[in-house]
Amino acid sequence: MEKEKNEAGLMEKIVSLAKRRGFVFPGSEIYGGLANSYEYGPAGVELKKNIQDEWWRVFVRERSDMVGLDSSIILHPKTWEASGHVAGFSDAMVDCKHCQTRTRADHLLEDFIEKNSNDPLNYNIPQALDDLWGFKKSEEIENIIRSGKVEGLKENQLDALIQIFKIPCPTCGKFDWTPVRKFNLLFETHVGIVPEAQSKVYLRGETAQGIFISFKNILDSTRVRLPFGVGQLGKSFRNEITKGNFIFRTLEFEQAEIEYFFDPETNDWKTLYEKWKEDMWKFATENLGIKADMLRWREHGDEERSFYSKRTEDMEYKFPFGFKELWGLAYRTDYDLNQHMKFSGVDLSYTDPTSGKKFVPHVIEPAVGVNRLMAMVMLDAYTEDGERVYLKLAPRLAPYKVAIFPLLSNKPTLVEKARAIHDDLQKRFMVAWDDRGNIGKRYYSQDEIGTPYCVTVDFDTLGEGDAANKDTVTVRDRDTGTQERVAIEKLGEFLHGKIYR
Ligand code: GAP
Repeated sequence: MEKEKNEAGLMEKIVSLAKRRGFVFPGSEIYGGLANSYEYGPAGVELKKNIQDEWWRVFVRERSDMVGLDSSIILHPKTWEASGHVAGFSDAMVDCKHCQTRTRADHLLEDFIEKNSNDPLNYNIPQALDDLWGFKKSEEIENIIRSGKVEGLKENQLDALIQIFKIPCPTCGKFDWTPVRKFNLLFETHVGIVPEAQSKVYLRGETAQGIFISFKNILDSTRVRLPFGVGQLGKSFRNEITKGNFIFRTLEFEQAEIEYFFDPETNDWKTLYEKWKEDMWKFATENLGIKADMLRWREHGDEERSFYSKRTEDMEYKFPFGFKELWGLAYRTDYDLNQHMKFSGVDLSYTDPTSGKKFVPHVIEPAVGVNRLMAMVMLDAYTEDGERVYLKLAPRLAPYKVAIFPLLSNKPTLVEKARAIHDDLQKRFMVAWDDRGNIGKRYYSQDEIGTPYCVTVDFDTLGEGDAANKDTVTVRDRDTGTQERVAIEKLGEFLHGKIYR
């Protein structure tokens, strides 16, 4: 029987396994590292790609109301003025005047509340500060402490709480902060060799804006009709200064975003929104195989939600550091298309081919980070069963679908036969080869990277043992540990049926 997941230290175990087995390496390690950046190793690149492929298959390729797009990372800088990122895409930060550590104010507060959660209300919250610091009631402060949720707080409110609790600097322990200030998250760079103001561009902070600015070209070049969506997978960049939680929040990350356009007079937005919630949930639980009790929905309150959004909800996963945003779902109205119309002067409205009605479509946006999905998939799959550690990955996500072992590496006939099977299966699947050590150790090694099936070629296969087993191999199942004999000629189909069931 599989044991209860050991929550304590789970993150450390995953980080260690990820490095040891080639999933994720710390970024730029030989130069002493670069905070919040990572490299994806041979197993990691496969897992990440499989998650992306699954997302693309389910949300783009197998839907007739979706098309795909791959827009540029560097877009015209006006894009980001129109979208509001230049003015408002920022995090509230504080600097320690003593040791110069720069910290996200909300994270400082969250960590403090979490560390003091046994004694959360043992603070003297002066009523008189209410008006001064921007809280209406001291009750609000108490609610923040109780919930530990600080999303949506304004700079002066964060300042107030840091002052009230006298939160020390996590690096030097002194209490000597600058006021909370906003820092923009967009990475700036320059086009051409002269870094003049006119040449300033940004690395995209989200893939979404590329969809809005290509909207007219998509309408003009395809036969799409509302309601329809545009899906895009690609890198986004954010200058995040934050404590590392593995690949949860990084400087560059892969986004998988959809803008689903519709006519609000024809389609009830609430119905579409609920359908997207269903589809996202199904993808997480069925396609990625995540346990449903580790997921939940959380709706953004008025403080947290962007002013143009009518409703925003986050699907959250229970990471070892708490329930955190995995996948956002926002009803963004017609805000973005209108903004780009205003800034570009180009008409981005849609004309209904039947009625001739011309209008700017509204949009619902499901947006997720693939790296964050991958962190969740690894954490959720991690399983300890006595001495045995395995990643119980959904087979279609596993980096290697099958591993081939010759029983003994010093018997050329076994190796030759195993090689032939390996080379044949490699045309259909990602296949691993291992001929070192005893079979038990080889199983253990494949279990740790989540390989769902291991195939052993033995003397029976060659017809040198049990004659009934000639031209068959042993297939061992990762999750149950059970083994069965399968004919070599049926092996490909057998595995395909199991992996892509
Ligand atoms: N277009 C909307 C948008 O970008 P977001 O909530 O800022 O919304 C969407 O990002 C998703 O992208 C998040 O739910 C998260 O999964 C992922 N994400 C955002 N910032 C990230 C970061 N720094 N590192 C990894 N993933 C990130």
